[in-house]
Amino acid sequence: MTEQLKAIEQRAGEELSKAADLKSLEEIRVKFLGKKGEITGILKQMGKLSAEERPVIGQLANKVRADIEAALSSAQEKLKAKAEAMKLEAERIDVTLPGKAPKLGRPHPLNATLAEVEEVFLGMGFDIVEGPEVETDHYCFEALNMPKHHPARDTQDTFYINENVLLRTQTSSVQIRTMEKLKPPIRIISPGRVYRSDAVDATHSPLFHQIEGLVIDKGVTMADLKGTLELLLKRLYGEETQLRFRPHHFPYTEPSAEVDLMCFNCHGKGCSMCKQEGYVELLGSGMVHPKVLEGCGIDPEIYSGFAFGIGLERITMGRYNINDMRLLYENDMRFLEQF
Ligand code: DAH
Repeated sequence: MTEQLKAIEQRAGEELSKAADLKSLEEIRVKFLGKKGEITGILKQMGKLSAEERPVIGQLANKVRADIEAALSSAQEKLKAKAEAMKLEAERIDVTLPGKAPKLGRPHPLNATLAEVEEVFLGMGFDIVEGPEVETDHYCFEALNMPKHHPARDTQDTFYINENVLLRTQTSSVQIRTMEKLKPPIRIISPGRVYRSDAVDATHSPLFHQIEGLVIDKGVTMADLKGTLELLLKRLYGEETQLRFRPHHFPYTEPSAEVDLMCFNCHGKGCSMCKQEGYVELLGSGMVHPKVLEGCGIDPEIYSGFAFGIGLERITMGRYNINDMRLLYENDMRFLEQF
């Protein structure tokens, strides 16, 4: 039995030296020290021994058990230390590496332009008001002197919710809503989304943005309209900006004018950018039609006013030299980061 015990101790030592993880250590513990383990097996046979041999073998068995236990716990310590070292190595940080700068956001070019427009008008004492995008035929067309079957509706086909409810094609609807609610003097701008059933291309989108303007007071003239728009466009495009007022027709203004901007590229001479025109069309405007005023309960004999509607995309594209409207909606960071 002495021989057996010594052999057990030796085998346990060999197996321990090969054990690579905590699981194999546990297997070794069970194999040698467990209830059905090899040492227990020896102790069970002690009955066969003589009275002199018994204490000697008993002592040896206890010593072998204690030795194996000690070897097990030192192997366990070593494995734990190794695992800890590997973890530290894996999580190691190089504090000398340069930091990663956090990415800063920036306003979208449409929002940046809108913010500037709003600032200009707030500075002139205008209020900023909002109107609904889902609008009735009445506010979008009828009250703007565009009855059903009016030809001016042709260019403003839109998405109908039912016969009388639609996605507004123009922010001009907010003119009516404002005049119904407020008494003159009125000075507002109203930015927002508008919709038309247009196919997408470089200059069209079924959803785009307009900024409506409306001023109603006693003695308001076309000169006020001109001065206001000139101030705005010089702020947006620079002091040397030149405008051209061109007669036009809108059912809700009389007289009406379209306002063009002198082409930056050729300064009015005509080039490929302005299609040889020398000017690029920018916005619609005019003096509010007496019928429209009357419809809103404002006496055209006492009050007059001007209105205008600007495409936000158009003025943004002009400012930043963007030649395709779709770029403004695609949210491609490579494009947006340039502004
Ligand atoms: N509503 C017009 C459009 O969508 C733009 C416009 C023209 C607005 C003349 C006005 C205006 O307020 O007086 O094309």
